[in-house]
Amino acid sequence: MGVDSDTNPVLGFDLGTTFSAVARWTDGRGPRIIQNKTGLDTTQSVVYRNPANDEMIVGRIAYHRGLMSPENMIVGVKRLMDETAHNVHLGGKAFTPVELSAMILKKIYNDAKSQYPKGVFSSRGSVVTVPFYFKAHQIDNTRQAAEMADINCIGIIQEPIAASLLYAFQLCEEHSEQEFSQNILVFDLGGGTFDLTLFHLEHTKTELIFEVLGAGGDDRLGGMDFDKCLGDVILEKGEVSLQGLDPVLFNKAQKNLFEHAVNAKIALGASSEYFVAIPFILPDKHIEISMTRGEFEKSIIHYLHKIEGIIDSLWAKAGVKPSEVDRVIRVGGSSGIPCVKALLDDVVGGEKVWGNINPSTSVAEGASMYAAYLDDKEFFDKEIIIRTRTCHALGLKTAGDYFTEIIPANRKTPCSVKRLFTTNEDNATSLDIEIFQGSGRIVKAETHSHIGTIQITNLPPRPAGELDIEVNFKVNEEQILSVTVTAEGHRKSTTLNYT
Ligand SMILES: Nc1ncnc2c1ncn2[C@@H]1O[C@H](COP(=O)(O)OP(=O)(O)OP(=O)(O)O)[C@@H](O)[C@H]1O
Ligand SMILES: [Mg+2]
Repeated sequence: MGVDSDTNPVLGFDLGTTFSAVARWTDGRGPRIIQNKTGLDTTQSVVYRNPANDEMIVGRIAYHRGLMSPENMIVGVKRLMDETAHNVHLGGKAFTPVELSAMILKKIYNDAKSQYPKGVFSSRGSVVTVPFYFKAHQIDNTRQAAEMADINCIGIIQEPIAASLLYAFQLCEEHSEQEFSQNILVFDLGGGTFDLTLFHLEHTKTELIFEVLGAGGDDRLGGMDFDKCLGDVILEKGEVSLQGLDPVLFNKAQKNLFEHAVNAKIALGASSEYFVAIPFILPDKHIEISMTRGEFEKSIIHYLHKIEGIIDSLWAKAGVKPSEVDRVIRVGGSSGIPCVKALLDDVVGGEKVWGNINPSTSVAEGASMYAAYLDDKEFFDKEIIIRTRTCHALGLKTAGDYFTEIIPANRKTPCSVKRLFTTNEDNATSLDIEIFQGSGRIVKAETHSHIGTIQITNLPPRPAGELDIEVNFKVNEEQILSVTVTAEGHRKSTTLNYT
């Protein structure tokens, strides 16, 4: 049990779309969230650049200043992690999504450090979380951000697995000698993303096995969207329009509106009615309205239907019935909204929802546990085994930019699939096999990401269609893809970083 050290702990970072958090592992007491300088468990994932002095600010202050001058602020940089070439301009200066994510990690790390005398606190190993749906290069970008932030990254774990680890840890503490298995549904509705993951958990004397049975979600569905809906209702009821305003007035009004929309959303979780007062939303206009929970729910009904649809399609995908779910873990700040809770209770039964968890911090806490495990595999007395599934299909680009699927999405891993191809040009002596991950018939930048290219040269010249090319895709236990191409006497193998 050597992983706990007061000033040199292992850490788990949840790098969220709207909020981020860090937890440490403490032996004997499990994971503990480290609060930020303002005493809060989570820090807003917002970066602001002060154009006057080039200072970079992260967190709540960044958000408030940025609402007044949005051109200097970025919210939701996690949604840009798949666009490596995409630069974010803050007040005219360009930053990559990786750099901005590194600033968020660095800020929460520095806040943790600041609780100790200078130079005393450092991470002996950190794990950073990523959503289940992240593709290989998004994970790679996250890893790069962690390296840039200097947090001593020793691993990456998917968010739902981190949350389930926390659950499994408590379960094992209560029944360490018992063998059991359960189906667990992780329902994560955060600020920007909805993620649904179904696991089979198996607990034996020596192993803790997580097997992903299926996953689904929407990376454009979360609390930020609800705020927007509620903001529209407030404007409509208050009979205010922000259209055609000059930018300074518009930004000021928008800032006011969003602050009140978020407050109203949270208050309507506890009471059925809330009074919204926004003095001087415009120089000559106040808003004073009463909002009911029903009105809020009506405004987000379209998103609730979407959530329902995603849950429905998961059962078919995973081959599991709602009645076969043993436990539901609710994660994400938006998962506590009463109508969201009710929807989930309706589908799987409220008694199955695990209450002993803080939905805003559980991912960071679970990540700190995984960091403890990676740091000292003996600490848990059990091996943690994660058997997952491909989240996106893997395949090749063939003539006409067609995506030829080799390993489909949702296929259990490890797995291996062989396919035979041929040349489509006479006397071709070289071939570039381009490997992609994604979905859709045609390879496009928006739907597919390039994982790698295998180049074969010195092929024997043959008429088109007469040279057999065997392609073998193999995903191993660690989610690493290796591709072997064999063409009459030529064999080339490449291992690609795919997760
Ligand atoms: N009590 C509450 N009621 C309703 N919404 C809440 C409550 N508390 C937090 N939220 C909302 O939850 C969202 C933040 O949740 P969370 O911290 O889980 O998101 P995230 O991890 O940043 O997002 P993602 O998981 O999509 O990357 C915000 O939109 C916030 O307004
Ligand atoms: Mg989250």
